Amino acid sequence: MIIHKPSISSAKQSNVVFSRSCTVLLLCCISIKLSLSFSIVPSSLNSLNLHGYFTFEKNEFAARDFGNQFHSLPLAVLHPKKVSDIASTIRHVWQMGPTSGLTVAARGHGHSLQGQAQAPQGIVVNMESLTGQEMQIHNDGVSPYVDVSSGELWINILHECLKYGLAPKSWTDYLHLTVGGTLSNAGISGQAFRHGPQISNVRQLEVVTGKGEVVVCSEEKNADLFHGVLGGLGQFGIITRARISLETAPKMVKWIRVLYSDFSTFVRDQEHLISSEKTFDYVEGLVIVNKTGLINNWRSSFNPQDPEQASRFVSDGKTLFCLELTKNFDPDEDTDTDKEIERLLSELSYIESTLFVTEVTYVEFLDRVHAAEMKLRSKGLWDLPHPWLNLLVPRTNIHTFAEGIFGNILTDTNNGPVLVYPVNKSKWDNRTSFVTPGGEEEGEDIFYLVAFLPAAVPSGGGGGGNGSLQNLLNLNKRILNFCETEKLGVKQYLPYYTTQEEWRAHYGPRRWEALVQRKSAYDPLAILAPGQRIFQKSISVL
Ligand SMILES: Cc1cc2nc3c(=O)[nH]c(=O)nc-3n(C[C@H](O)[C@H](O)[C@H](O)COP(=O)(O)OP(=O)(O)OC[C@H]3O[C@@H](n4cnc5c(N)ncnc54)[C@H](O)[C@@H]3O)c2cc1C
Ligand SMILES: *[C@@H]1O[C@H](CO)[C@@H](O)[C@H](O)[C@H]1NC(C)=O
Ligand SMILES: *[C@@H]1O[C@H](CO)[C@@H](O)[C@H](O)[C@H]1NC(C)=O
Ligand SMILES: *[C@@H]1O[C@H](CO)[C@@H](O)[C@H](O)[C@H]1NC(C)=O
Ligand SMILES: *[C@@H]1O[C@H](CO)[C@@H](O)[C@H](O)[C@H]1NC(C)=O
Repeated sequence: MIIHKPSISSAKQSNVVFSRSCTVLLLCCISIKLSLSFSIVPSSLNSLNLHGYFTFEKNEFAARDFGNQFHSLPLAVLHPKKVSDIASTIRHVWQMGPTSGLTVAARGHGHSLQGQAQAPQGIVVNMESLTGQEMQIHNDGVSPYVDVSSGELWINILHECLKYGLAPKSWTDYLHLTVGGTLSNAGISGQAFRHGPQISNVRQLEVVTGKGEVVVCSEEKNADLFHGVLGGLGQFGIITRARISLETAPKMVKWIRVLYSDFSTFVRDQEHLISSEKTFDYVEGLVIVNKTGLINNWRSSFNPQDPEQASRFVSDGKTLFCLELTKNFDPDEDTDTDKEIERLLSELSYIESTLFVTEVTYVEFLDRVHAAEMKLRSKGLWDLPHPWLNLLVPRTNIHTFAEGIFGNILTDTNNGPVLVYPVNKSKWDNRTSFVTPGGEEEGEDIFYLVAFLPAAVPSGGGGGGNGSLQNLLNLNKRILNFCETEKLGVKQYLPYYTTQEEWRAHYGPRRWEALVQRKSAYDPLAILAPGQRIFQKSISVL
């Protein structure tokens, strides 16, 4: 038997340990790994009794993601037709033991940013081929829900639920993402201040663990796995089904944007809105720095009723803050929506002449980024590298953050939108794997999502020559360094780290320990989601 090191250690550490103590084994492992990779593995996978199938060629799609910076080919892609296909495959890899080096990554819609859904020389599970299963809507009139396959796109769930006059409560800004993909992170948008993130709106999950066991879990049953998987970055199991809470679907949406020149006023109004009993249904915000063509370049399909007036606002050389709000209404029943909106707006201190309003259907509003996607695609500007940086900033430090970054480190927002909006921590369950910023003991209940969402242009065009991938990555580094130096207690959302020290710091000692414990319980060989680079299965020779 070949002795293996414990699977729970970083890539770096394992290589060091390995080269120090096991030089002889190394040669042995190389030959085992090579032969497994090039002959034994494909035939052993093909011997599994599946409803779906494996592909060993034309798997380039599985080496790509939205970030478009990391590209690792898998050895095989599983196209499952049933949950048992995933279970059989993982059980098979589990039984091969630690030395095969073989890993398994679920791939939702592949909208990760740094290869998180990839499995270098491993197996990628194409979750979207599971979506043939029917969605089942249950409406008891009190707390309706829908059971969906985890490879389902949120946009499809929305359309299905709308047939019954229902809809999920909490969203992301973009709906062409899978349920499994967003629940592995959090799923945050302008509804989260009220409903919490998407991981706070799930009642039950079906999960295949790293041992190939199929487990149904919820608050009541296998609660530790349930909480672990939510925000768990795919580390403890592959989600195969999810039960999602629904509400009566809104019909129409008043969609509002107002501008501020002062950050303090802007966030004071945001916090006022998310703390009020009667308020808007969605609250987000954008930072606009030194940008020409303000309205036209906004990422989504917002068409203000008075485009003339809107186009007059430019932010050349300035920093502006745009508060984005919506109010849902039913044109057949609600007669005083406008009055209610007027009342809510009267409590705010935006620049008076900057009220832009439009009216769209609920679907048009939720699917707004897709409209922008279609425009960008038509210009060949969708498949660019996306060096995105998502940060969670504690409320106490948001002013220092803004002062140091908006208009200073960040000198323009020509390369993509920058979002800033607050959420209330009380809507986040601290038993999940998700990490919120700020000490829980401090009792600080608000934190901010700040999202830098640029696209890199090939020749560094766009923002005056600053839009190259290298420049944007440098900018991200400077932003992170500033947070570090100023000790702002910022956490990354959709985190990306290269060392285990950074992961430990991200989680903090107590949560790191809990993470390691869950890993040993549900995926002891570290087979799952290797692209997160938290744990290393065995020695990567190649
Ligand atoms: C245009 C755009 C807009 C976005 N807007 C928002 C937003 O408003 N709010 C927000 O919160 N996020 C947003 N995101 C981020 C998005 O939520 C994540 O990137 C998410 O992971 C993408 O889902 P996916 O289905 O493409 O996942 P993938 O990229 O396929 O997978 C992501 C990770 O989850 C794992 N995984 C996938 N499926 C499963 C499963 N079934 N079980 C277990 N693990 C699984 C993968 O292995 C991988 O590690 C946005 C992304 C894009 C590209
Ligand atoms: C956050 O939510 C909790 C619980 O609903 C509430 O008590 C608290 O006042 C909220 N905080 C803010 C700042 O709105
Ligand atoms: C604004 O951008 C222009 C070029 O687009 C640049 O010359 C100028 O320095 C920028 N101003 C600030 C305040 O960053
Ligand atoms: C979660 O929060 C509660 C209070 O809201 C606290 O008592 C508990 O210790 C926290 N749990 C963890 C694991 O942080
Ligand atoms: C480009 O970046 C440099 C340094 O990062 C900065 O000084 C300059 O203002 C930027 N140019 C624009 C147009 O933003």
